[in-house]
Amino acid sequence: MSFDLVLFGGTGDLAWRKLMPALFQAFRHGTLPEGGRIIAVGRDDISSEHYRALMQSRFDKVELPKRPSAEEFGRFAALLEFVRMDLSKPKDYASLATALHTRNADTVVMYVATAPSLFTTVCEQLGAAGLNTPNTRVVLEKPLGHDLASNRAINHTVLEFFEEKQVFRIDHYLGKPAVQNLFALRFGNALFEPLWRREHIANIQITIAEDLGVEKRGSFYETTGALRDMVQNHALQLLCAIGMEPPINSHADAIRDEKLKVLRSLKPWTVESLAQDVVRGQYTSGNIDGGKVPGYRDELGVSPQSNTETFVALRTEIANWRWAGVPFYIRTGKRLAGRDARIVVNFRPTPHAIFNSQIGMANCLVINLQPKDGLELHLLAQGQNNRQSRAGAPQALVPVQLDLDFDKRFGLERVGAYERLLLDVIDDRLNLFVRSDEQEEAWRWVEPMLDFWASDAQGLRHYAAGTWGPSASSAMIARDGYCWSEES
Ligand code: BG6
Repeated sequence: MSFDLVLFGGTGDLAWRKLMPALFQAFRHGTLPEGGRIIAVGRDDISSEHYRALMQSRFDKVELPKRPSAEEFGRFAALLEFVRMDLSKPKDYASLATALHTRNADTVVMYVATAPSLFTTVCEQLGAAGLNTPNTRVVLEKPLGHDLASNRAINHTVLEFFEEKQVFRIDHYLGKPAVQNLFALRFGNALFEPLWRREHIANIQITIAEDLGVEKRGSFYETTGALRDMVQNHALQLLCAIGMEPPINSHADAIRDEKLKVLRSLKPWTVESLAQDVVRGQYTSGNIDGGKVPGYRDELGVSPQSNTETFVALRTEIANWRWAGVPFYIRTGKRLAGRDARIVVNFRPTPHAIFNSQIGMANCLVINLQPKDGLELHLLAQGQNNRQSRAGAPQALVPVQLDLDFDKRFGLERVGAYERLLLDVIDDRLNLFVRSDEQEEAWRWVEPMLDFWASDAQGLRHYAAGTWGPSASSAMIARDGYCWSEES
C-alpha cells in the first residue's frame, strides 16, 4: 500500500518533538508501510535537502536508544520531502496537488499540526483544490476550538469537505499503551468486570500531574488553561475508558458510542457543585528537583496579572445504574510535585472486619500511565512479623502489591502513543480517535465551569511549584471522607 503523509506545520514544534521521531520509530520497527512519502509543509523558504539536514540535527538530540544511526537516517530521509506553502493561498494548494498527483498514492493523510486557527482554512482549501478525495484522511490536533460553539464551527466546516469516517481527531492519551491496556484489562478479562460497579467501587481518582511549567508556550497557555488543555480532552477520555459499558464489538463506532454515553451521563453542574466540587489553581515560584523555578505570572508570554488556571481538581459522577453515587475525581496541573499520570480505582472495604485495622493503600487497582506504565493491585496480606501477637488475638495485615510493569514485560515491542496513532491513521483504524459528537459533548460539560469562573475572579487559588496543588483540592476530596492516593 502506498501512502503520502502531508504534514502541515512540518517545521513546527509538534513535528520536531513528536511526529517525526514517531514516524522514524515506526520506520525502524518495520511497521511503516513501504512505499510511503512524508511531505512536510511549511512557510520557510528551504529545499527538501535543507529540511532533511534540519531533521538530522534534530534527531541528533533524541535520546540515545531512539536516535537513528547515519545509515538508518539516510534510508528514512529518502522518504522526506519539503513543500513550501502559504496556507492561505489557493495557488499553493495547486502546487501541493501537483506533487501528490505525481504518483496518486493509495492513501493520502493530511495531518494538520498547525495553529488551530488554520484548521478550517486548510480544510476549505483542500476542498477547493479537489484534494478531499475518498482515499484522503485528515488528522486534526487538539485544541479543536475554545468552547462548544467554536468546536462546532470547526467540525461543521471540516465535515463539509470530509466525511466523519475520514476525520481523525487526535487525543494522544488514547494512544498511550496503558490506556489500551485498560481496555484489555476490562474487556479481555472476566476477573474485574463483576466488581466494576458502584456496589464494589468506592471512588475513582484520575491524576495527570506534570512537573514541567508552561515552557515556551506561555502565550498559548494564557488563553487556554488547564481545563481546556487537559480536562476537556485527555482526562475525560480516561474517565470514559474507565466508566464506559462494554462495547458490542471492537469497532470504532461501537467504542465511541459507549464513550459518548458516559459523557452524556456526567452529572450536570449546579451553582453549588461548581463552587464546591471544582478547584482551580495557579502556580507561584517554588522548587522542582532542588532548583528554583519561577511562578506562572513570571513566565514568558504570560500576563503578570494572569488569572489563567494551571491546575484543576474536580469531583463528578456518572449518573447511570452502574455508577450512581460513585465519585470520580479528576486532577491535573503543571509544576506539581512530579510527573505522574495514573488512575486509582479504590474498592470498598470488606463488609465485616475480622483482622486488625486496614492500613495504607490497599484494596485498590492502580493503572499507571507514566512515567511508569503498568498495573498495580494493592492487597492486604498476612505479614511475617506476627511473633509477638498473642494466640487468638486479631492479626494485623500489611499492604502488599502485585506489580505488572509493562515496559519490563513487553520491552522492545512497546510502541509510543504517536507512533501507534500515526500507524492507525495510515491503516484507517478509527478506534482510538475522537468522534465529533463525543468532542462536543465534552465541551458541553466543561463550559459551565468556564462560565462560572468568568464571574468568580476570587476563586483562583495559588500553590507553590513543586507541591500537589492548592490545599483546597485535598479539602474537596476529604469532604467525602477520602484522600488523594499519594496522601494515603
Ligand atoms: C498536551 C498538552 O496535550 O499534553 C500539554 O497541551 C501537556 O500542555 C501534554 O504537557 C502532556 O502530554 P504527556 O504525554 O507528556 O503527558
